[in-house]
Amino acid sequence: MKLWGGRFQKDTDQLVNALNASISFDQRLYREDITGSMAHAQMLADCGIISQEDAAAIIDGLQGILADIEAGKVEFTADNEDIHMNVEALLTARIGDAGKRLHTARSRNDQVALDFRMYVREQIPVIVGQLLELETVLCRQAKQYQTAVMPGYTHLQRAQPISFAQHLMAYAAMFRRDVTRLEDCKARLDECPLGSGALAGTTYPIDRWETAKALGFAAPMGNSLDGVSDRDYALELLSGLSILMMHLSRFAEEVILWCSWEFKFIELDDAYATGSSIMPQKKNPDVAELVRGKTGRVYGDLMSLLTVMKGLPLAYNKDMQEDKEPVFDAVDTVEMCLPVFAAMLDTMTVRTDNMRRAAGHGFINATDCADYLTKKGMPFRDAYTVTGKLVAQCTAQGKTLEELSLEELQAVSPLFEQDVYDALNLENCMALRSSYGGPAVSETTRQIGEIEQFIQER
Ligand code: ARG
Repeated sequence: MKLWGGRFQKDTDQLVNALNASISFDQRLYREDITGSMAHAQMLADCGIISQEDAAAIIDGLQGILADIEAGKVEFTADNEDIHMNVEALLTARIGDAGKRLHTARSRNDQVALDFRMYVREQIPVIVGQLLELETVLCRQAKQYQTAVMPGYTHLQRAQPISFAQHLMAYAAMFRRDVTRLEDCKARLDECPLGSGALAGTTYPIDRWETAKALGFAAPMGNSLDGVSDRDYALELLSGLSILMMHLSRFAEEVILWCSWEFKFIELDDAYATGSSIMPQKKNPDVAELVRGKTGRVYGDLMSLLTVMKGLPLAYNKDMQEDKEPVFDAVDTVEMCLPVFAAMLDTMTVRTDNMRRAAGHGFINATDCADYLTKKGMPFRDAYTVTGKLVAQCTAQGKTLEELSLEELQAVSPLFEQDVYDALNLENCMALRSSYGGPAVSETTRQIGEIEQFIQER
């Protein structure tokens, strides 16, 4: 008979059992479930609701179940629906009546709310740790390429000179925000739903502060209906993970471009690339493509849970059992992508020669040419027009700006002098962009230092 079978005269239909049971996926929460139950049992005894002997037997029994689950000795059953009832049934089979007292002043509604919240709380530091590993790789690589000139792009058109370090540190800045977003989520979920009961609290003299404290929460949740209904923390996690994957997918896209023969700015290590079954020459960036592809999955997980929660009346509804799989999937996906992406970047070969060659074509020093004239007194808008004419002339002649002779330059403006060639030199163009946040070495050094400090503080 089911734990809740008292008022039923028939067995559950097998198809209903299959639909209703969540044990196939929520068994992942066994540790959180047992930890929560231990705290609950101790609190019940401390408040005189059950005896200290019963609490001791429950805690001892739960410890044995935990050890057996971890040793792979426990078989869960769909007949007991979910992880909560599986553990409770095992406990009662092992210790008898004391086991049947565990669920006093509790519901699976506050129990699952607690388990799931603890799961999210535990995964955040794991993902943050992986992000910090990625940040470490970015800093290490950036340090080697602070003077490596590459074309910066807008509209995927060569735009202005930057360094490879500056480009990498842009991603470091994004991942830093991802870390703080996850930390914000963790700070906000720091309230314990246990003791909310089914929805309306309980008539027993429970101490919600005791369980909140024992389980490492700052306080109990202040409203029992909210306590069993809230899944904001899971949505915040999924939002944070979606944004993180969006960042990773942009980076992945650039890695894919950079690996192409058209760019060849980087070469991936053989261990982080794959081949083709028919084309012998191929070395494909599958890791980056899969990260880009898996981003869609994590967005889907976010949309799934948002849609499950939309329009649900208070308090608990069984729809909410659908909260777990999207979160597990997103966590698994992110935790798989981050370390392999970091390792791929850590082992890549950077082709600074190709970056420099690409930087030499596409007039990425045209802004510097206009700025040169502006600094000599010409209004910027006029300098812009003059430079535009020079670009058109160069394009027609298949030349770069610095390949024009001083006479050709002076033909459009007498302000041009010999020092224009220094102003057009790409290394100078990059090095002189020392405004706060720019690509000059002084600024990439500051950026790297700040990220390293951020890592160290954690
Ligand atoms: N397996 C359920 C879930 O994941 C646990 C809560 C069930 N509560 C209930 N009243 N049926 O949501």
